[in-house]
Amino acid sequence: MIIQGTVKSLGMDADGLVEHEGEKYYVPYTAPGDVIEFEVIKEKRRTRLNVTQIITPSPLRTTPPCSHFGSCGGCKLQHVTNEFYLDFKMQQLMRALDFHGVVPEEVRPVHVIPEHKRRRISLTFAHRFEGMVLGYVRRQSKHIIDVQQCFLIRPEIESLLPKLRDFLRMLFPHRESGYVDIIASRTGLDVNVKTGYLKKLNWEQSELFTAFAVDNNLARLSLNYRPVITISEPTVQFSGVNVVVEAGKFLQASDEADAFMLACVEEYMPKKIAYGLDLFSGRGTFTFLLAKKAPVDAFECEQDAINAMQAAAKNIRADLNVIKRDLFTYPLQKEELAKYDFIMVDPPRAGALQQVEQIGQSTVKDLVYISCSPASFARDAQILKQHGFVLNSVTPLDQFLWSEHLEVIAKFSRL
Ligand SMILES: C[S@@+](CC[C@H](N)C(=O)[O-])C[C@H]1O[C@@H](n2cnc3c(N)ncnc32)[C@H](O)[C@@H]1O
Repeated sequence: MIIQGTVKSLGMDADGLVEHEGEKYYVPYTAPGDVIEFEVIKEKRRTRLNVTQIITPSPLRTTPPCSHFGSCGGCKLQHVTNEFYLDFKMQQLMRALDFHGVVPEEVRPVHVIPEHKRRRISLTFAHRFEGMVLGYVRRQSKHIIDVQQCFLIRPEIESLLPKLRDFLRMLFPHRESGYVDIIASRTGLDVNVKTGYLKKLNWEQSELFTAFAVDNNLARLSLNYRPVITISEPTVQFSGVNVVVEAGKFLQASDEADAFMLACVEEYMPKKIAYGLDLFSGRGTFTFLLAKKAPVDAFECEQDAINAMQAAAKNIRADLNVIKRDLFTYPLQKEELAKYDFIMVDPPRAGALQQVEQIGQSTVKDLVYISCSPASFARDAQILKQHGFVLNSVTPLDQFLWSEHLEVIAKFSRL
């Protein structure tokens, strides 16, 4: 079916809304004001919408910098003006807060992390008839776009890609496929190859792994998260503390995002803290900052992250306890929270509903909440509000350039 229509606005996923005969269609890579013709392709499990013609382009359009834009499945918003882009990001936050009836005392402008700063990526590869393809997967498809350029990632990751492609071509026969995770650490690139095809390396394959790591000055090269060769432990630095990281595991997207968030948290924290708590602490992005000011308990569920933080803590003088706990199933209860006077919360996308309920019922007065989902953040902020907290200030951070995503750093307090 072919439909013609005008894009009214962008939805939460950054796709353009067209209304036609009582139906709503969200069409990718469009801008409000575009008059378009698009095809509705009904497949087994989903419906795909494909623009066949832009009849009248929106004045909000601009030329996307990347030749892969619209096909690679990575960026969604390279084709709109900067002004519109920033407003879209801000609305992601404001609409969510409005929906939950939360009014912040202060909203700061969106801070954007620019291009070529992303320090961690995951790519897909497959050895096809035409050669080894390595890149991102096209939206709503299994098709891999062979990425020749990427404006998001750090230059040292981008320049590794042609050599990585050759390496994978030598290892994998036709039709085999897998994934590659890369982190640009302070000590070099940490690369992990994930595949069901290679379980154990033979002598020749081990030699290929070693040569690839050495020739490209990698910090470490792993197969299915088991290091094959470690030249130097891949580390990042949080508040001056070196912490080991692992490709494929959680890490904020860039050094610049770390620095910006840490500056915000430092400003939002009370000047004096008697005993701090860091919930969903990961490898300690914020814990080590807090540990400079006060004794800290850090809670996290992932064992690798806990091990990395505990190992890093041995090299510093800090009163820091790292504790393993599933905070969704076993949130800290209001009685356990009584000993803390400041809490940091940085949950995954789902938010921290159960934990925030307990914080609300506790005696804690100062809280910094970091979120990668305005929707779950606003829901949790509403609960905090019901328990007397005021949202004093909120800073939106765009650490995933040209995506629909937005990070939020927020200060809550109550009397
Ligand atoms: C958004 S990350 C933040 C990590 C850290 N604060 C940072 O900035 O690097 C969320 C963290 O929550 C952890 N996590 C996810 N589900 C959890 C759960 N149910 N209980 C405890 N921690 C959890 C993840 O392992 C991850 O480290």
